[in-house]
Amino acid sequence: MPQPSPTDAPDKAFYITTPIYYVTAPPSIGNAYTTVAADMIARWHRQCQQRTWFLTGTDEHGQKVMRAAAEHGVTPQEWTDRLVEEEWQPMLRVVDASNDDFVRTTEPRHAERVRDFWETIRANGEVYAGEYEGPYCVDCEEFKLPGELLDGPGDKQLCPIHNRPVENIKEKNYFFPLSKYSERLLELYERNPTFVQPDSARNEVVAFVRSGLQDLSISRSSFDWGISVPWNDSHVFYVWIDALLNYATAVGYGSDDERFAATWPADVHLVGKDILRFHAVIWPAMLMAAGVDVPHQVFANGWLTVGGQKMSKSTATAIHPSEVVDTFGSDAYRYYFLKAIAFGSDGSFSWEHISAVYTAELANGLGNLASRVTSMVGRYFDRRLPDPGETGLDEDMLASELARTVAVADAAMERLALHEALGAIESYVARINGYLSDQEPWQVAKDDSEQGQARLGTILYAAAEALRGVAVLHAPTMPKTSAALWEMLGAQEQLGDLGDQDLRSAGRWGQLSAGATLTKGEPLFPRLPDDA
Ligand code: MSP
Repeated sequence: MPQPSPTDAPDKAFYITTPIYYVTAPPSIGNAYTTVAADMIARWHRQCQQRTWFLTGTDEHGQKVMRAAAEHGVTPQEWTDRLVEEEWQPMLRVVDASNDDFVRTTEPRHAERVRDFWETIRANGEVYAGEYEGPYCVDCEEFKLPGELLDGPGDKQLCPIHNRPVENIKEKNYFFPLSKYSERLLELYERNPTFVQPDSARNEVVAFVRSGLQDLSISRSSFDWGISVPWNDSHVFYVWIDALLNYATAVGYGSDDERFAATWPADVHLVGKDILRFHAVIWPAMLMAAGVDVPHQVFANGWLTVGGQKMSKSTATAIHPSEVVDTFGSDAYRYYFLKAIAFGSDGSFSWEHISAVYTAELANGLGNLASRVTSMVGRYFDRRLPDPGETGLDEDMLASELARTVAVADAAMERLALHEALGAIESYVARINGYLSDQEPWQVAKDDSEQGQARLGTILYAAAEALRGVAVLHAPTMPKTSAALWEMLGAQEQLGDLGDQDLRSAGRWGQLSAGATLTKGEPLFPRLPDDA
């Protein structure tokens, strides 16, 4: 669980971030994976009626972006403007992300504060001039240690993440004495044991810091696409130490103290496991050097893989999110990636798998359930929700299981076990379906007696009320489906907006009242086209 600190402002927002994405190529489902996860977590907190801030954006400086622009014969600024507008911002709409802000590192609000931040660190005596000589991977934008490289063809050394040759650079640069921070970082991991999660990531980071840190080159002098160093404008800042600062500059660091205090520290930085060290080692050390609080947690998600390898642009295995959303819709897309892959582990995507999950859990599961309940209320009760009447053990169980599902899912979300939260909700949907199969309301309907009709009312009320709980629980993951279900149940007119329903109270049974108007509506999850 991200640990709030006693120094947090009392009304501090829950603040979650994604990495900011390199604008070298269009987005892939690998990039969108972190975005969707962050979005679901943000929406979960909002649904718990917590003030929430969700930030994402783009990382636009450095050699990698500069080279992509050159390959396309345009300036880096033209290139980044084009990719942000045509690809990266639209991707957020494709996956239905509800980010509160979008930061670009080329914006003055960021660049100026980066200069201020490093001036502060320099004034604290934590910058020195030196020379860097060693391997550098432009794809990672990372100075590499010789020991971590792979042997390639000839005498080439390869980056273990990209499997591509590293470049040897020799430059006069400015340095940050990262090696001095080992002890303080280890203390941080000790004091806040969930600072790095999951545990496998934590262990990796602790071992890395224990093995001894090298000082970090913080500027580059052989090209100029970056934020110029204020005390020597023939240098630009190293792209990572510019990029990491987005998390602070976008919420008022150095420009709006009140806003900064009401948002910072970040509760969770979600990152892919390939960029863990930057976030769990360099970033907190930078903040310590500047006297700024460190974030509460860095959580590393796994990779989407193809044939066991990280899906990536460089290996031409990238799939664009639209390709998947066009067939399955954004809700099923979100549900699939968050439920089918254990959050924190790698997962392999396949069209067969997403189709199977869609059909079994969404179309035949939740979709069919909602359609059965609303059509029976339509047929037998002229669309009016019947009175709950006298409940029996089965209804009481359905009610207590809803409360338990809310508690289990919420506890899983505290640990960022998104897949467990969704697993609990899915089991509950299956449970409601099982309840209907056991009770056979279509048989009970044949009994015209007053008692028979009352029993039929009790069953359909219970199923609709259980679905009310599901609509709230699924709102963070499948916002469109939940909104449609809310309408179908006639919940809006009785209970108000879905967004105003406190998720943690969703297990309180009996919120829908008799008389609500149910509507069958369109299927929540239409059958897939044959060629899907
Ligand atoms: N620009 C840096 C991050 C700076 S944050 C201050 C960066 N950008 S990236 O575009 O290369 O990657 C962004 C995120 O996408 C990373 O978290 C990375 O792990 C994630 N993914 C890219 N491909 C991925 C998969 N195949 N699977 C899961 N996530 C992957 O790194």
